[in-house]
Amino acid sequence: QKTREESLYIVNDWARRWFEEQLWQTEEGRAVGLVYFRERSFTDATIRKFQLGYSPTNPQALLNAANQAGHNLEYLLELGLVKRSEKGELYDAFRERVIFPIVDRAGRVAGFAGRIMNSQAKAAKYINSPECPIYNKSKILYGLYHARKSIAKADMCFLAEGYTDVISLYQAGIENVVASSGTSLTESQIRLIRQLTGRVAILFDGDPAGIKASQRGIDMFLREDFDVRVLLFPEGHDPDSFARQHSSSVVQEYISENLQDFIRFKAQFLATGPEATPTQKVQAARELLESIAHLRGELKQSIYLRDTAQILGIDQTILSTELRTIQARLQ
Ligand code: CTP
Ligand code: MN
Ligand code: MN
Ligand code: MN
Ligand code: MN
Repeated sequence: QKTREESLYIVNDWARRWFEEQLWQTEEGRAVGLVYFRERSFTDATIRKFQLGYSPTNPQALLNAANQAGHNLEYLLELGLVKRSEKGELYDAFRERVIFPIVDRAGRVAGFAGRIMNSQAKAAKYINSPECPIYNKSKILYGLYHARKSIAKADMCFLAEGYTDVISLYQAGIENVVASSGTSLTESQIRLIRQLTGRVAILFDGDPAGIKASQRGIDMFLREDFDVRVLLFPEGHDPDSFARQHSSSVVQEYISENLQDFIRFKAQFLATGPEATPTQKVQAARELLESIAHLRGELKQSIYLRDTAQILGIDQTILSTELRTIQARLQ
C-alpha cells in the first residue's frame, strides 16, 4: 500500500520524464525548447544532468498522456500539473515553456518551474508548482541534490538567486552552488546549508533587489554562525549572464578575487569616508554594528570591531560601547 506522498512523487517523476521526452523527442520541443537552451549556452550534458524539459503548446498534451499512463486526475490536480477552468475544463498548467524540475535533496521531484521563452510576452517569466504535500518552496534549495558533496568537500556553499545561475555555474565547474529561487531566503534554507558547511558566499544579482537581499541574507547567516562573504556581479549581471560571457577560468577567477567579507560589502553602500558628515558616520556605524551584533562570540566580534573602526576612522572602544547598547536592544 503506497502512501499519498509516494503516489505524488511517482506522478511527478513520470511528468519529469514526459517533459524531457517532449524536449528531446518531439519536433516542437527540439525546434523551440532545445534551441532555447542551446542559445543560453547550456550543453546537452548539462540539459540532461538537470533533467530540463519542455511543455508543448497543446493545452491538453500532458493531461492526455497522463490519462493514457493511467495516472489519477486527483494527483495531477494536487500537484498543480493540471488545472480546472471556471467552465470545468481541464488544461495543462505548463504550456509552451521550458521546464526546470525542482528536486529535493534526495533527488526526488518535488515540483516544477516553467520559463517563458518569449521575453515580450506579458505572462510571468517563471511559473512554479503550487504548494502541496511534497512541495514547499521555502524549504527547498534548488541544486542541493547535485551540490551536496562538493559543498561538504569544499566546506563552502555558493548561494545564487535563480535556476539558471546554478546551472551555468555548475557548467563552469563551480559545483557547490544552490539557489534560493528568488531573493526571499528563508531560515529553513539556511538550515539545509548548515548541515553541510558553515561557510557561505552570497552571489545574488547585481541589481537593487539583489543588493537588498544580500544585506538581509548577511544577518540571517550570521545568526546561524556562518562565515559570510558576498560577491556582487557587475550592474545588470547575474551569475548566469556573467558565466555566459566569460570562460570557466575567468568566472572562477572573478569569484575568488571579488568575494568580500560581509563588513566590507556593507560598508561600500554606506557613507564612511572622510567626506561623510558626522550624522552619516553615526548611521554607518550603527548599520555595521547591527550586523556585528548578530555574530556569536566575543572574539569574532572584536575582530570585526577592529575592521569597522578602521573603515570608519572611529575609536574601537567607542564602537564597542555602542555595540553593547545595540545588543541589549536586540535581546
Ligand atoms: N522567480 C520566480 N518567479 C518569477 C521570477 C523569479 O520564481 N516570476 C525566481 C526563480 O527561481 C528565478 C529567481 O527567482 O530563477 C531569480 O529571478 P530572476 O533573477 O528574475 O530570474 P533569473 O534566474 O535570472 O532567470 P533568467 O536568467 O532565466 O532570466
Ligand atoms: Mn534577480
Ligand atoms: Mn537584524
Ligand atoms: Mn537573475
Ligand atoms: Mn538570469
